Amino acid sequence: MSAEYKNVVQKRHILHGGFFNKTLRGWQALRTEITPQNLMYPVFIIEADNEVQSIPSMPGVCRYGINKLKEHLDGLVKNGLTSIMAFGVAESLHKDERGSNADSPQNPVVRALPHLRRWFPELTIACDVCLCPYTSHGHCGILGQNGSIDNSKSIKRIAEISLAYAKAGAQIVAPSDMLDGRIGSIKSLLIENNLQNSVAVLSYSCKFASNFYGPFRDAAKSSPASGDRKCYQLPPGSGGLALRAAARDIDEGADFLMVKPIMANMDVLKQVTEKYPEYPMFVYQVSGEYAMILAAAEKGVFDLKDALMEILGSYRRAGADVIITYYTPLILDWIRLKHKL
Ligand code: PBG
Repeated sequence: MSAEYKNVVQKRHILHGGFFNKTLRGWQALRTEITPQNLMYPVFIIEADNEVQSIPSMPGVCRYGINKLKEHLDGLVKNGLTSIMAFGVAESLHKDERGSNADSPQNPVVRALPHLRRWFPELTIACDVCLCPYTSHGHCGILGQNGSIDNSKSIKRIAEISLAYAKAGAQIVAPSDMLDGRIGSIKSLLIENNLQNSVAVLSYSCKFASNFYGPFRDAAKSSPASGDRKCYQLPPGSGGLALRAAARDIDEGADFLMVKPIMANMDVLKQVTEKYPEYPMFVYQVSGEYAMILAAAEKGVFDLKDALMEILGSYRRAGADVIITYYTPLILDWIRLKHKL
């Protein structure tokens, strides 16, 4: 072997991947590609069918009445949108102790589902399942005598709500409360109603109590009236509990798992995907992350598109299959332009 060749082999120059050819460079990053299938778009649905409301803490994101949502989604579906996550917002609907309007016929999501399924037969619809937007106290479950969550009553109620969304046309129900036993409770009720093959359960399995949910609580009008959600959401930093929560939800029959918020918890994503490679992983780029990235781009810290694609690519590299992001409409546009569709 010539001295020169030996040098090349030993130093592994090729590992730098510094080819001039675009395709060769692209092959280094294929696992971080973002296609429309990797995106789920969260939407807020209000009671007033013909209204659009902007959300000051989330510039560019709106709450939509069903007719306006149709117009908004029309363009996105043409652009490749494959799935949405629906959140109901209660404005004039009465809020009570047990969140009766979470699954009443007046609930904006219950009302919207049959229309959305008819208008967009190819669109997959997930519904966030939670009590907090519909309870008078704003907590994610039913409170007991002592003012803390009554777990068994709450998970029974959460299963009832899931069933109502499933019957109205949801293909995925996504409980975001983090209470023990809710996945099992939902799954058994779906099985009892013979819906187990048409409706999947996406668990917010690794959901941390977080500073990054602020704008969402504005958007969904779901701030707790008093106290916080720290006793049922994971304490930030508790990697062990996050893994145990994933194991708990898998054991109860979850079809998909989630890490939320993603940016501060990518280590958990990596650990969960390594431990359970057979489960598709969802990550939620939450409202505070959306607002933070947008604010930085507006300040000229970076270019929005370049920075966002770097961030999303790193989520894919760490194991994310589907990214739930308010940036979905923009990203779909960028994908279309890139492929000149
Ligand atoms: C409801 C729920 C929240 C989010 C999704 N579902 C708020 C919370 O737990 O307080 C946050 C999403 C976001 O910030 O974008 N339980």
